[in-house]
Amino acid sequence: MLKDLVWPDEGAPEAADAAPAPEAPPVDVLRAAFGRYATGVTLVTCLDSRHQPCGLTVNSFSSLSLEPPLVLWSLRLRSTQLEAFSAAPHFAVNVLRQEHLALSSQFASRPAEERFALGQWRSGLGGAPVLTDAVASFECGLRGWHDEGDHRLFIGQVRRASQSEGQPLLYHRGAYRQLSVDT
Ligand SMILES: Cc1cc2nc3c(=O)[nH]c(=O)nc-3n(C[C@H](O)[C@H](O)[C@H](O)COP(=O)(O)O)c2cc1C
Repeated sequence: MLKDLVWPDEGAPEAADAAPAPEAPPVDVLRAAFGRYATGVTLVTCLDSRHQPCGLTVNSFSSLSLEPPLVLWSLRLRSTQLEAFSAAPHFAVNVLRQEHLALSSQFASRPAEERFALGQWRSGLGGAPVLTDAVASFECGLRGWHDEGDHRLFIGQVRRASQSEGQPLLYHRGAYRQLSVDT
């Protein structure tokens, strides 16, 4: 288990030296530190029980496993879309390109029923909307979800994946960024 791991060089801390662990960093410190981790930007989508498209801007997306192919992302428990994503058997993850900045803002701030007015969409697995010019897309079956803290973690099994050329949209320190160099 991770909590039992002790680095060989350091050994266990002496009880007398050990400062009491603080309860938690202040939220603004935590937010600023989390924000130093640069991410891509995705739109995660599904169909709700009335067959209406749902979606929001998400940067908590991550690859989880190759065999089997799994992805994960997390949704605020207070999201208006919690019920829809928890019940939908499929969802799609659309990785945005740098030309999609307006689309990202739209899906992060506009009312849910207005979001799909922008962008070219096709119906993916289970009807989940797939952005036709995404830099990559993953059509997933919902494997399960798990609540931790103030978010619900969704795990999906990738059934279809596609990718195309182009520069991804990035998010860092609360602002959209672009790749400036190739490595
Ligand atoms: C770059 C960016 C990344 C975001 N990532 C997430 C995320 O991973 N999970 C989440 O719940 N909200 C995330 N949000 C916020 C949601 O997009 C936003 O709160 C949501 O669209 C609000 O609508 P809702 O109440 O329908 O969820 C992100 C916003 C931005 C701008």
